[in-house]
Amino acid sequence: MKELNLQIHVLVKTEEELTPEEVKLLDEARRATYRSYAPYSHFSVGAAVALADGTIVCGSNQENAAYPSGLCAERTAVFYANSRYPDQPIRRICIAARDTEGQFLQRPISPCGACRQVLLEAEQRAKNAIEVLLYGTDSVYIISSIKDLLPLEFELENS
Ligand code: THU
Repeated sequence: MKELNLQIHVLVKTEEELTPEEVKLLDEARRATYRSYAPYSHFSVGAAVALADGTIVCGSNQENAAYPSGLCAERTAVFYANSRYPDQPIRRICIAARDTEGQFLQRPISPCGACRQVLLEAEQRAKNAIEVLLYGTDSVYIISSIKDLLPLEFELENS
């Protein structure tokens, strides 16, 4: 028998420690939360993706009365970026969220499993890592690749 020990590396920064580029993306992600449509969960998520040419594309969660028909902020942003700029690889994504009281979360928000799967494919398509910034008012987690968020991932060639 063998063991696999899977570890991920997370850089934990305060807001003051972010680079100007990171702050810019974070501001866009925070702003995007105010464009969320979340009348059911009252939980507003914003995602901002930076493309290789520097373009920033945002998305927010969009809910629907038929709950599964809604979409998370991350997938809204990634699908929009890929449909609007299909030749521009995604380099970085920042995610922010406000709770049912409208306050930004203290602990960094982490993407759901379905979003990780979609982000992973965007990363494979880009042929280089997508850096992830997860915003919380206490700290910002920085993870250097989506692959770290989805170990033992599903790939067609595995099926
Ligand atoms: N949500 C996101 O937008 N991103 C995530 O990674 C997790 C959840 C949204 C979906 C739904 O509109 C609301 O947050 C509550 O789950």
